[in-house]
Amino acid sequence: MSLTLWHGCNAATMRPDSGQPYGLIEDAALVLDGPLLHWVGARCDVPVDMLAACAEQHDGGGALVTPGLIDCHSHLVYAGDRAHEFELRLNGATYEEISRQGGGIAATVQATRSASAEELKLQSRARLQQLMGEGVTTLEIKSGYGLALAPERKMLQVARALAQEHALTVRCTFLGAHALPPEYAGRSDAYVDEVLRMLKKLHAEGLVDAVDAFCERIGFSAAQTRRVFEAARELGLPVKLHAEQLSDSGGAQMAASYSALSCDHLEFLSEEGAQAMAKAGSVAVLLPGAFYFLRETRLPPVDWLRRHGVPMAIATDCNPGTSPCSSLLLMLNMACTLLRLTPQEALAGVTRHAARALGLPDRGILAVGLRADFVLWDLQHPAQLCYALGARPANRVIFNGEER
Ligand code: NIG
Ligand code: FE
Repeated sequence: MSLTLWHGCNAATMRPDSGQPYGLIEDAALVLDGPLLHWVGARCDVPVDMLAACAEQHDGGGALVTPGLIDCHSHLVYAGDRAHEFELRLNGATYEEISRQGGGIAATVQATRSASAEELKLQSRARLQQLMGEGVTTLEIKSGYGLALAPERKMLQVARALAQEHALTVRCTFLGAHALPPEYAGRSDAYVDEVLRMLKKLHAEGLVDAVDAFCERIGFSAAQTRRVFEAARELGLPVKLHAEQLSDSGGAQMAASYSALSCDHLEFLSEEGAQAMAKAGSVAVLLPGAFYFLRETRLPPVDWLRRHGVPMAIATDCNPGTSPCSSLLLMLNMACTLLRLTPQEALAGVTRHAARALGLPDRGILAVGLRADFVLWDLQHPAQLCYALGARPANRVIFNGEER
C-alpha cells in the first residue's frame, strides 16, 4: 500500500462531532490512499507504521486546510448577460414586472438558444474557472435556459463537457420547469407535459442527476411542480426546489413530501415549511447573492431553520438575472453580513451541508473514507474565508487525491 502524507497544516475538518469549532485540528496530518482520506488527525498521532508507508510527503507550509468547497446551486451555463435589466430595475422596474413583460429568464433563454454549444461553453468556462480559483471542487449546474429539448440538451452537454475538461465534480440538475417558454404562452399545463417528455429523454441520455423546478407566481404552481416531481420519482431521481423566493407558495412543504434534497432561496418560508423540511431532512440552500442583487428586504427565516434543525447551505446561484456572481467566497461574506450566519455556519454551508444538498455523502468534511478533496489556504483561521470582501486568498487544491 502506497500512501501520501500531507502535514505542516491546521485542518478545519468541518466535522460536527469533534467538539472543536470548525472541527479544527492544529498541526494536523492527512494521510491519503489514492483518491481517499485514509487517516486524519494530529501530526503527532500518525501511527509509526503508517508514516513509514507514506511514499510521498508534502509540507503544507503552515496552511489552513478545509474540505474542497461545494457550490450546490448554480445556473452557470448560460449565454449573454442582463445588464440592461439591471439598469431597468434601478430606474424603478421590479424583477417580476420585467419577467411579465417578456424579459427576465426569457431573455436569457433567447440568448442561450441562439448560442452554439462551443460559444456557450466558452462563456460558461470563464465562470467555472473563477469558481475553481476559489477552491471549488464540486459544482452543481442547472439547465433551464433552453426550455425545449434541443437547447436543454445542449446546456446539459456543455455542463458535462466542462466537467470532462476540468478537475472538479459537476452535478447536472434538470430545470425544465424554470419558466414558460414564449411558444407555450397561456398553455402552461401543456408545457409541463413537454417537461416530462424532456426529462425522460435527457435522463435516458445520462444527462440528469437531479430535478429542480421554480415554484412561484411567475414560475409553476405547486400542482404543476408535483407532476414534475412524480416523474422524477418514477425515474429514481432526487428533487430540489426553488421555493418561496418571492412569495409563499407552500413549495417547501410540498418538496419535503418528496424528501427533497433541498429547498432553495426561502425568503418567504413559513415556520410550518421549516418544520416539514426538518422532518424530511431537506437542506435549506440560502442564496445571499440573489437576496442582495434583487435588493430584497425580507430575510430568510434563519432562526426558524436553526430552531428546527434544518441544515443550511450557501451557494452562488450564479445566473445572469438575480446573481451574476462566480465567487463563492463573496457569498460566504454575504451570508454572514446580510443573512446573519456565523462564519462557522457559513463555512459548513459550502462544505458539509452543501454536500448533503447534492446527495453526496462522500465529501464535505475531512474524515476517513471520504474523498481527498481539500484546499490549502494561505490563511491562519477559517473565519478569514468569510471576512475579506472580494479577496481571493492564495490556495492549492487537492482534488481526488491529486494536486490540480
Ligand atoms: O435562482 N428564481 C429563478 N431562477 C433564478 C433566476 C433566473 C434568472 O433570472 O435568470 C434564481 O434566482
Ligand atoms: Fe437559482
